[in-house]
Amino acid sequence: MYVCICHALNDKQVTKALENGARTPASVFRHYERQVQCGKCVPMMREMAQSHCANQCHSCSTHTATPQPALLPEPANAESFPYGVAAE
Ligand code: FES
Repeated sequence: MYVCICHALNDKQVTKALENGARTPASVFRHYERQVQCGKCVPMMREMAQSHCANQCHSCSTHTATPQPALLPEPANAESFPYGVAAE
């Protein structure tokens, strides 16, 4: 299933990035040397990252087994992103 249409990233590729240390949509994009474009995929990537951390991220120092609603504040320029989401 495609997660990011703009960059043709599917769920297996996103999962692979998460397994290799990505913890946010922005870090998934960095893993593939891409940048967010339309932003429509960011909520799904964020859910995948939170689910990954809740289920498999036992050694990560920034995440716990219980998903946190707002682990990181939105960046100062968050309003410039479409759909009200930021990739971090
Ligand atoms: S669908 Fe991912 S940036 Fe557009």
